[in-house]
Amino acid sequence: MKTMYVVAGLTAFLVAGIVFAQSESDYQGWMKSNGAAMASIQKNIAAKDGAGIAADAHTIEGNLKQAEAFWTKKGGAPDAVNFAKMGQMAAATLAKDAAGNMDAVAGDLKSLQGNCGGCHISQPSADGLPPLFTDHQYEALAAPRNAALTDNKDSQYFDLGVCGPIRTDIADQTQYCGMFLTPTLRNTAMRQAFFHNGMFRTLQQVLDFYNFRDTNPEKIYPRAADGTVQKFNDIPVQYQANVDVSDPPFNRHLGETPAMMPQDEADIIEFLKTLNDGYKPAE
Ligand code: HEC
Repeated sequence: MKTMYVVAGLTAFLVAGIVFAQSESDYQGWMKSNGAAMASIQKNIAAKDGAGIAADAHTIEGNLKQAEAFWTKKGGAPDAVNFAKMGQMAAATLAKDAAGNMDAVAGDLKSLQGNCGGCHISQPSADGLPPLFTDHQYEALAAPRNAALTDNKDSQYFDLGVCGPIRTDIADQTQYCGMFLTPTLRNTAMRQAFFHNGMFRTLQQVLDFYNFRDTNPEKIYPRAADGTVQKFNDIPVQYQANVDVSDPPFNRHLGETPAMMPQDEADIIEFLKTLNDGYKPAE
């Protein structure tokens, strides 16, 4: 149901800047330039200015090229190098599509944003209101089945969100089966149960789901009697094609390096706590 242009969001590259390179002024300069270019892309999308979008995308590509060289020179930090490489590819694709294939631009932008902010938008809205950390759109992420729910005692019962059984108005639109609204992240750290079926009880489990769903699904889903991992086990096979396998971090594959290191997950959890009403930073 990704019909609208998804606008803005803290870019993965800005996050990487904060996490890895607090004191490196060159690096911060490139990331700042990326932030400005992202803002400009949004204006140019609104104005349907393909040439403007392409120019901004080239700016980002150039900054990331320098960032890649920076990390390569420092040795190590392979994740940061890969990140910069992937970002350059995404920026190049965006620049190319902006020149003629405007329909693809929204999806390209999402790949470029490449992180939580792609769906849980972290920028103030156009009218200056603080961010709600949701794009108000629907996604099938395929949380594992929660055996503790009474309804799920019936192995034929599936809560398919937009297409029913609770919601009934568009039950025949099966391309939406399994989709749920992207929730706000405000006060999420105060909850005891997460996702539509309450399957996750801690933010650590939520972050592990994002990190390992595709690279190490055996950490997320149960195994059948024959040992096979029952990936997407709360969505009937005929609807599993609706599951998002393109928005990062869900674009990875079995056995690849997960998107986040344990420290990244811990940092994001600490950040989520700052979204609580009345949050007070530790002294
Ligand atoms: C592709 C869009 C998308 C991306 C990317 C994404 N989320 Fe989500 N997020 C969702 C949707 C949709 C749900 C609700 C899923 C459900 O209920 O089954 C959700 C649920 C959550 C929840 C549970 C909220 C609650 O109150 O139950 C948290 C916390 C969360 N996301 C954090 C994150 C973090 C952190 C990241 C980055 C690692 C991230 N999300 C990336 C779409 C996304």
